[in-house]
Amino acid sequence: MTPKNAEHYKRALKIMPWATQTNSKRLQPDWGESMPPFIKHAEGCRMWDLDDREYIDFLSALGPIILGYQCPDVERAVREQMKKGVLYSMASPIELAAAEAIMQNVSWIDQIRFMKTGADACTACTRLARAYTGREHILTSGYHGYHDCFFLGWPNHGAPTVLREYVHEIDYGDLDAVNAVFEKYGDQLAAAVVVPYEWNEDTGEAYLQLLREKCDKYGTLLIFDEVLTGFRLALGGAQEYYGITPDFAAFAKAMANGYPVSAFAGKREFMQTLEKTVITTTYAGETLSLAASQATMEIMRNEPVHEHIYAMGTRLLNGFSEIINECEAPAYAAGLPAAPFIQFNLGDDEQNTMWQNRLFSELFARGIFPSQRWFINYSHQPEDIDQTLEQVRRAMQNLIKRAPLQAPAEH
Ligand SMILES: Cc1ncc(COP(=O)(O)O)c(C=O)c1O
Repeated sequence: MTPKNAEHYKRALKIMPWATQTNSKRLQPDWGESMPPFIKHAEGCRMWDLDDREYIDFLSALGPIILGYQCPDVERAVREQMKKGVLYSMASPIELAAAEAIMQNVSWIDQIRFMKTGADACTACTRLARAYTGREHILTSGYHGYHDCFFLGWPNHGAPTVLREYVHEIDYGDLDAVNAVFEKYGDQLAAAVVVPYEWNEDTGEAYLQLLREKCDKYGTLLIFDEVLTGFRLALGGAQEYYGITPDFAAFAKAMANGYPVSAFAGKREFMQTLEKTVITTTYAGETLSLAASQATMEIMRNEPVHEHIYAMGTRLLNGFSEIINECEAPAYAAGLPAAPFIQFNLGDDEQNTMWQNRLFSELFARGIFPSQRWFINYSHQPEDIDQTLEQVRRAMQNLIKRAPLQAPAEH
């Protein structure tokens, strides 16, 4: 670690567990000495660490950055709103403006309310589903945040274990598990809360279709957790991508280009449950994030944002494949163009992880901030992708030279 990063990390760790607020931003020692624990500035698709080292970023702040860091039109909207105040004693008109802007992009929604985090939004949908149906069990699939009912699979989770009786977690795409959970608990299931797209493989359609059918049959509400897929997979999220419509959806990350806001939304009949129950939090109407969201929605609607993201992602994905072929590396490139990735296939998981760690370590040292899923945003230009690919090529060549890899397993 470079001197300033190391000094700052030591000080932060002393008074702040993890030295960060977010699990996925914790320093990963396995990713090598060059991984920067802190970023002091970011613009477009580039970030700078405490020692002024520059990186082309492919994590996009874990998903929220969809237009690029400090997108000028979004920043302008926030500055304009800032002149009027950040939070009032009553609702602000920006709440309606932001809601309408989102609903122009996601056409199936009848009603919407704002929250602050992805976990908040998923919890709100689930609570409404329970209140609407009067049932207590839920089916879950994927990560929906740290709140009690979604976190039961983690070691020492700190949530009441009795919740396990009510929460039935299944793997993405597991049709047998969908059938089994509905067969056993269908009449008691308030909701099926699912991440609608798994970035590894696109097996979603049959899975979502089955969930829709089962939910309809048993009177269960289907909730799409669109926290990561919303406004990224397509402008209208997974609902548009698959053409399958849920009853509720949770949105967060890409909805305000990094400003902290989330939303839960759905069909009027189900959202109207709010007339009989209470879901509330003080900061949900915070105006700066809503101004950012309105501006983000307008840019996404008026400019070829998703076309560009898919074009840049395809360029990166094809480049990965070429490099893998050139270097005869035991790996493959895959993923949707909006978030491609390189996967080593040496036969066992430990080896694969070890080689990915080495690749990441090489890339950090070469000014590329890699990611398990390389999130493209609207600010990535062909030159950024080509510069990145050149560094990936050198990193891969170096890896192979240093230690020839074993023959790949069949893929
Ligand atoms: C699919 C999904 N749902 C929910 C969450 C939780 O969102 P947050 O961290 O904003 O609470 C995440 C976060 O990564 C996510 O990826």
